Amino acid sequence: MASDPSHTPSGHRRHGPFLLRNAHVDDARAIEAVHWAAREAVYDGQVADWPPSGLDRDGRIERWTRWLSSEHLHCIVGEEDGRIVGFVTIRASRDEDAEPHVAEMPTLYVDPAAWRRGLGAALCRAAVALASALDFLELTLWVVEVNTRAQRFYDAFGFVADGASQVDEDTTERLVARRYRLSLGAE
Ligand SMILES: CC(C)(COP(=O)(O)OP(=O)(O)OC[C@H]1O[C@@H](n2cnc3c(N)ncnc32)[C@H](O)[C@@H]1OP(=O)(O)O)[C@@H](O)C(=O)NCCC(=O)NCCS
Repeated sequence: MASDPSHTPSGHRRHGPFLLRNAHVDDARAIEAVHWAAREAVYDGQVADWPPSGLDRDGRIERWTRWLSSEHLHCIVGEEDGRIVGFVTIRASRDEDAEPHVAEMPTLYVDPAAWRRGLGAALCRAAVALASALDFLELTLWVVEVNTRAQRFYDAFGFVADGASQVDEDTTERLVARRYRLSLGAE
């Protein structure tokens, strides 16, 4: 690692203009802002229940604070000019049919202003490296069918739809989500 110039002594990783680092609990507000902006860009005009009812902004920040405090969740953020513009999380899979060696990527979000500049792929590579370091052998994620942008991203990265589907209970429209899978052994 020390010989790789993209790794700083503090363990931060540089990818072009982006700096990747592990998230802290006090990143919750900035992470929530990226999460909301990216979801709005995907869902506004696409699904009838945007914006979703439920938690207000303070409640959503509080929820992120709780998630970031959890020992079960790992989160990596991408910064540009000191501002968080993307993040990814991984954890052991919660799917009922998952074996213990399967990790899950619950969220990968990039601020729409930074889309298509390589940050999503850099965060995804960092998540893959972390999942491998934690001895997971596969990584899965769920994508709702209407999110064709994300499907194109995951296709390009090498994920493959494994045939599983479920109704996303987080949406009042009950959108159908498909599961994508990546073997970490091939990395
Ligand atoms: C999906 C997402 C994370 C991709 O992030 P990104 O930073 O824009 O992606 P990258 O720039 O790293 O793209 C990497 C490659 O993926 C593919 N790709 C990404 N977006 C694409 C698009 N809209 N159309 C076709 N291919 C695309 C391309 O092959 C791209 O490489 P290239 O730009 O050299 O051609 C981002 O669009 C996002 O935050 N979307 C909203 C949130 C979301 O849907 N998250 C996933 C929920 S499951």
